[in-house]
Amino acid sequence: MKCKKCTKKAVINLKSYNLSLCAEHFEDFFVEKTRETIKRYKLFSKNDIVIVAISGGKDSLALWYVLKLLGYKTHGFHIDLGIKFNNYSEISKQKVINFSEKNGLPVSIVSLKESFGFTIDEYKKMGQRTACATCGIIKRYLLNDFTRKTGADCLATGHNLDDETAVLLGNLLNWQMGYLKRQHPKLPASYGYFAPRVKPFCERTEKETAAYSFLKKIDYVQDECPYSENASSIFYKKIMNEIEQRSAGTKLRFLRGFIDNKKFFSEERGVEERLDICLNCGQPTVSSPCAFCRIVQRFQKVISSERRES
Ligand code: AMP
Ligand code: FES
Ligand code: ZN
Ligand code: ZN
Repeated sequence: MKCKKCTKKAVINLKSYNLSLCAEHFEDFFVEKTRETIKRYKLFSKNDIVIVAISGGKDSLALWYVLKLLGYKTHGFHIDLGIKFNNYSEISKQKVINFSEKNGLPVSIVSLKESFGFTIDEYKKMGQRTACATCGIIKRYLLNDFTRKTGADCLATGHNLDDETAVLLGNLLNWQMGYLKRQHPKLPASYGYFAPRVKPFCERTEKETAAYSFLKKIDYVQDECPYSENASSIFYKKIMNEIEQRSAGTKLRFLRGFIDNKKFFSEERGVEERLDICLNCGQPTVSSPCAFCRIVQRFQKVISSERRES
């Protein structure tokens, strides 16, 4: 198999583009396509400061790398969740620090334990809710909080095409109109509180981000989160891969088709739902205290009752 652009040996075959490419031409392709996505969805501009949410995994590190190559002003942000199994959080944090130093990119790190007194492990032990669901609320809250407080223009995450189409399929199958309304590569600022959120890799497949990270020798955490128990998301990804196998390009068509027809899912576009204000932290919420403050309070309650008993 030869590269379609030169005579060198191809390292990847991108069926949906009917394209085989050598390492050099694939790297160019990957960066150029990311640039196109940023332009297509008007995600941000060269004057903007972009906070990049870095987990230590391949997608977010590759995203940070590509945004730097494209000349954007970025600042990394990592949340140390305190997951001890397989030393997951410590290894993730170390990969983030190493990458930031190697590439001269600034990063801020927040430790859940140091800032809020508990880790995801400790929360899981309380057995109140699945760790992943709680973790998702915590991450969303802290990522938004950091982006707002730094006065940055938007928050970028490493979600890729496989993530986006799996979520889309799940939301459609269950007619989750609320989620469908909010699914977009660019979520604008809302309620004067939530920072804009963008997904520059939403049109890059997991195969592409893995290949790019490998070719660029990006040292990322290989393990999945030990608590990742979202079986349906894994199942939907598998289904999407099978469909893609039969009909190359389906994932991209599915996502773009949805975005082009977004109006059918957004009748009340522009009309913000009325929300309360969390009496604890000031965040707009359906009912006070907000989900994040409830998690923190629940943990503190358990800790103080344990102290009383001992
Ligand atoms: P996940 O939900 O774990 O698939 O992660 C989706 C995206 O959320 C990643 O690509 C990152 O941009 C961001 N993210 C996940 N975990 C963290 C973390 N611990 N700290 C900062 N950002 C994160
Ligand atoms: Fe938070 Fe898995 S990354 S529980
Ligand atoms: Zn080539
Ligand atoms: Zn709150």
